Amino acid sequence: MMLTFNSPIQIINSCNQIPDMSHYHEISFNELLKINLVAEEIKNNAQILLVIGVGGSFLGSRAVIDALSPYFDQSDLGVKVIYAGQNMSGAYLNQLLAYLHNKEVYVNVISKSGSTMEPALAFRLIKKYMEKRYGAFSKNRIIITTDATNGILKQVADIEGYRQFVIPSNIGGRYSVFTPAGLLPIAVTGVDIEEFLNGAKQADTDTNGDTSNHAAQQYAFTRYELYKQGYSVELLASFEPRLSNLHEWWKQLFGESEGKEYKGLYPSTVNYSTDLHAIGQFIQEGSRIMFETLIHFEEVEADMEIPFTIDDIDGLNYLGGRSMNSINAISKDGVALAHEEGGVPVVKIVMPKLDAYHVGYLMFFFMKACVISASLLEVNPFDQPGVEAYKRKMVELLKNEAVLVKE
Ligand code: PA5
Repeated sequence: MMLTFNSPIQIINSCNQIPDMSHYHEISFNELLKINLVAEEIKNNAQILLVIGVGGSFLGSRAVIDALSPYFDQSDLGVKVIYAGQNMSGAYLNQLLAYLHNKEVYVNVISKSGSTMEPALAFRLIKKYMEKRYGAFSKNRIIITTDATNGILKQVADIEGYRQFVIPSNIGGRYSVFTPAGLLPIAVTGVDIEEFLNGAKQADTDTNGDTSNHAAQQYAFTRYELYKQGYSVELLASFEPRLSNLHEWWKQLFGESEGKEYKGLYPSTVNYSTDLHAIGQFIQEGSRIMFETLIHFEEVEADMEIPFTIDDIDGLNYLGGRSMNSINAISKDGVALAHEEGGVPVVKIVMPKLDAYHVGYLMFFFMKACVISASLLEVNPFDQPGVEAYKRKMVELLKNEAVLVKE
């Protein structure tokens, strides 16, 4: 991995505040075996895995699956993973049930607390659907991923006899992609989860111990310095459309970890080239409040060569023989130069190849950098009191309304 900084700031090269990293979880051989066995079973018996979860319980798997899946023909994927419980749209759930009709389905409910309203409601509906459709066999098709001992979902799983996976108690949702919460959905699509974990392990090694200037630390310090200079928005950008849900995962990771006590960078995301022709105007010439972090994978499979034409009617023969990806890479450099000239500092994160190993590496790198960043801001990267506040208020309102309706 290469990290280059083209920003007009000084990188501070020492950090004596590396935080406790025990919030990362190394999966055991037995857990991995169980995940692979259940994934095989799902591949053999289902076309759809419906993951019910919200926030950290689904953003990680969705990011990895999208980054590593083909755009159009997904027929080679073991199973299609779709999601519920990430919204409360009745229309979404209604159409989802219609979509599931005639397809073989497994369900994986993922909730660390076991009591989050959105997935809990979706599961209530889907449980009924599965029982109606599969009768007693629905038990085999519903898998619960939750805390080892606490929560209502854990109780339901025990009472109903569902198979269970554990999210370790010291790991919060947005750090859980390397636990069964991320790994089971990822595995059913045929992504090599061992390679994914190997990438994470290497990132852990590369950013560990007394390495006073590793990439995660440089990135964390860079964004902190920019923040202190008044750049209050970080734009994560890439030129590969398959990464758009990796952006979403990153946004949640940094937003929920850092945005508290009235501090933190606002994490925002853009997908290029699309957004160059939309929000690009603002980035180039709007309020000077943002810096940009560009992710680039040097090698992506199935590139295309630009053909020469005899008449050169569109005047593009000067690009003939070049690969689309190489043009995409140059466009990235052009964008970086233009944005820097326009007063937007640019940080570049360059990865060799878009594959399971490097996506695992990159996600671990971001998790590590996020924890360091939060420690620089002196906030706790592992809690989310603001999210809990909304959950409490919503339940309060719903309960009050229920009392009024009864009266
Ligand atoms: O990152 C987090 O901790 C949150 O985004 C949670 O994942 C989200 O609120 C869902 O919580 P739970 O898994 O308890 O249902």
